[in-house]
Amino acid sequence: MARVHVIANQKGGVGKTTVTVNLAAVVADTLGSNVDKPSVLGVSTDPQASMLEWAERVGDALPFDFAQCHDDPGSLSKLRQFEQYDHIFVDTPGSLEDEAILQTVLAQADDVIVPLEPEPMSFSPAARSIQRVIAPSGARWRVLLNNWDPRDGEADLAQTQGFVQAKGWPVFNTVIRHYKLHARASAEGVTVVQYAKNRVALEARQDFFRLALEVLGSDGQAPRHAREADAPREA
Ligand SMILES: Nc1ncnc2c1ncn2[C@@H]1O[C@H](COP(=O)(O)OP(=O)(O)O)[C@@H](O)[C@H]1O
Ligand SMILES: [Mg+2]
Repeated sequence: MARVHVIANQKGGVGKTTVTVNLAAVVADTLGSNVDKPSVLGVSTDPQASMLEWAERVGDALPFDFAQCHDDPGSLSKLRQFEQYDHIFVDTPGSLEDEAILQTVLAQADDVIVPLEPEPMSFSPAARSIQRVIAPSGARWRVLLNNWDPRDGEADLAQTQGFVQAKGWPVFNTVIRHYKLHARASAEGVTVVQYAKNRVALEARQDFFRLALEVLGSDGQAPRHAREADAPREA
């Protein structure tokens, strides 16, 4: 059964699409080397379809299969049954109007990644999404600090980490730093695995490799869906 990773936060501009595309690319590039049987699917459920535009610009170099599914609730409600994939990464809308789509995919989620910018204006919308929609889904969820620019100093990061800790939210150790390369990638039609071979690109890519290891777990396997783990085992 496919493991479904949902990237969610009902605030726009926090990095959902950036994280979905680059995480799917890293996992596909590492695990999906067999071209005849791609093991990774990227799904966009955002009616604004920014992942679709990005995927089209990358074209044949996209290392994972891609589907735009915002108007296909039938497929969205059975993502885990897409047996041909090991991992499915799902980008979701950044608007409250599309909450029904988000709820449909969260019901399929093995784990949820909640990108959060180190920026106080982002805290309340993230808290609302987590409390109203993400936590009640029963899926395992973790906050991901994204788009931190080390040149701005540690204060914003420390404040954000303090906020997350005070809330008692689970959080990834990996922080995705701000790089111009990430900001330009969609327009240039590349993902992290196609970045040029130089030191800055290596650093930018490294954040996504570290995140992939955390998402997949130390044994390369994501933890099973919470509800499934609770289910009685067959005798
Ligand atoms: N780590 C990062 N480094 C640089 N730019 C980033 C980073 N994360 C996101 N961005 C930029 O921020 C903007 C919003 O990101 P996006 O992934 O589209 O957010 P969302 O999907 O949540 O609306 C985009 O222009 C994107 O390129
Ligand atoms: Mg987006």
